[in-house]
This record gives sequence, structure tokens and C-alpha cells, in this order.
Amino acid sequence: MDRLKNRVAIITGAGQGIGRALALGLAREGARVVIADINQTSAASVQSEVEGAAGIALASTTDVSDEQSVQAMVESSLREFGKVDILINNAGIFPVSSVEEMSEDEWDRVIGTNLVGAFLCSRAVANKFIEQGSGKVISITSGRALQGGRNAAHYASSKAGIIGFSKALALELAPYQITVNVICPGITDTAQPRGHLSEEQIYAQAQKIPLGRIGQPEDLVGTAVFLASEAAAFITGQTVIVNGGSIMG
Ligand SMILES: NC(=O)c1ccc[n+]([C@@H]2O[C@H](COP(=O)([O-])OP(=O)(O)OC[C@H]3O[C@@H](n4cnc5c(N)ncnc54)[C@H](O)[C@@H]3O)[C@@H](O)[C@H]2O)c1
Repeated sequence: MDRLKNRVAIITGAGQGIGRALALGLAREGARVVIADINQTSAASVQSEVEGAAGIALASTTDVSDEQSVQAMVESSLREFGKVDILINNAGIFPVSSVEEMSEDEWDRVIGTNLVGAFLCSRAVANKFIEQGSGKVISITSGRALQGGRNAAHYASSKAGIIGFSKALALELAPYQITVNVICPGITDTAQPRGHLSEEQIYAQAQKIPLGRIGQPEDLVGTAVFLASEAAAFITGQTVIVNGGSIMG
């Protein structure tokens, strides 16, 4: 408790799934959280959940792939809370398509949300972090960045890009004591895998995981809180894999 007291955290894509769990988890540790999601209804609902658990939250309808929307989200966070200390780039989409059938529009949409979105949000807080001489950027990649994945070339590329982007940003921001790290979940029980895998396929995936189950969104919270806290002050440019042992990096 209270490991993030007085901190302000923006979590993108926090209207459901992993982002929702991260917002609730960071709020439990004392952070005031900005729930930035393209879906207004779900962002508002997670705001209510955080407030219902005695936390402080702001819902922001934000499209991370749109520069103006991202700018407006950071400005409203600053107006509401006076500062931003932590950014979690979590918003992501995962349509499935083979390379032969993939339209350029779909490629652009996935890169635009997953990778350009992380760039736009990081850039929008970077100056503030530099002025403060502190800040934490955490981005969510995927095992597909490390291993590839059938019908997911755009997604794997966007998630591999997040790792390269984060290492470069970590180098640029290190002189200001700002850390930039990546969390790499394995398959996690949210709408994302359930949108394209059957119950049997999810069960089969779980059998291949050394710890014997797929992840739950809450499994990511401990790592995110740690990386966002002062306990991780000397960790930057790293990717932490949280996947029950399915890929050992
Ligand atoms: N669930 C998994 O198995 C898994 C595994 C590895 C990595 N991830 C990554 O974790 C992150 C969260 O995944 P999830 O499973 O919770 O997904 P999810 O689909 O349940 O939630 C994604 C959230 O992002 C929001 N979003 C989508 N486009 C957006 C945009 N342009 N701007 C702002 N918000 C937007 C959605 O409205 C939704 O609330 C994603 O980056 C995903 O790629 C998920």
C-alpha cells in the first residue's frame, strides 16, 4: 500500500482488460489515475470503480493514435492533478490477418494505435518529465514481439517496435533520471485473446505454460507498480516478461 502515494499516472486503454487492472492496482497504491480510453463509457465505468474503492481517477476519452487527442488528454490531466509522474502505454488492438490478405489500412491502424500511440503519448509527457527531473514510462509489448505469430505481422511489428522505441527513449531520458521500461505479458484472459480463440484453444495454450494457466490481468499489476515506484529507480531500458514461464527471455 502507498508505494505510489502522491503520484499521478496516465494509463492508456484502461477502460477494460489489462489497463483496467493496472488503473485499479496503481490507485490501490495511492496513485491518482487517468483512465485514457477511446471508449468513453468504459473509461467512465473504470473511473467509478476506482472511486468506489476510495481512489481518485479522471476518465479521459482519448484516441492514442491522434496527436491532438493525446495532447488534450495530457493537458486535462495536468489541469486536474497539476502533474504527471507515470505513463503506461497499454492501449492496443489485435486484429488477425495473414500478410497476403492484410490491407495497408489495417497495417497502418495497428501500427498507428500500438506503436505510434506509444510514441505520441511518450512525447506528450516527455517535456514535463524533463522539467520535473523525474518520470516513469512503461509500455506494454507482447510475446509476439519476441516470437512472431501467425496472422499477426502488424501486431508483432508494432510490439517489437515498442521494445526498440523504449530502449532509444530510455537512453535519451536517462540524463534526467527518467526511466523507460517495457512489460511483456503472455496470453492474458481479456477480450483480446477471447475475440479470436475458442475456449478449447485457450485451454490448449494454458497446458503449454509452465505455471499451468494463462495470465489474469491482475498478474501484471505487481510488475507495473514496481517499475513505477522508487524501488525500480535504477532500472531502465528493460523488458520484464510476465508470462508464467511460456517464453524464457
Ligand atoms: N490479452 C493478452 O493476451 C495480451 C498479451 C500480450 C500483450 N497484450 C497487450 O496488452 C494491452 C492490453 O490488452 P488487453 O488484452 O487488455 O486488450 P483489450 O482489448 O481488453 O483492451 C484494450 C483497451 O484499449 C482501448 N483502445 C483501443 N484502441 C485505442 C485507442 N486508439 N486509443 C485509446 N484506447 C484504445 C480499448 O477501448 C480497450 O479498452 C494491449 O497493448 C495488448 O496488445 C495483451
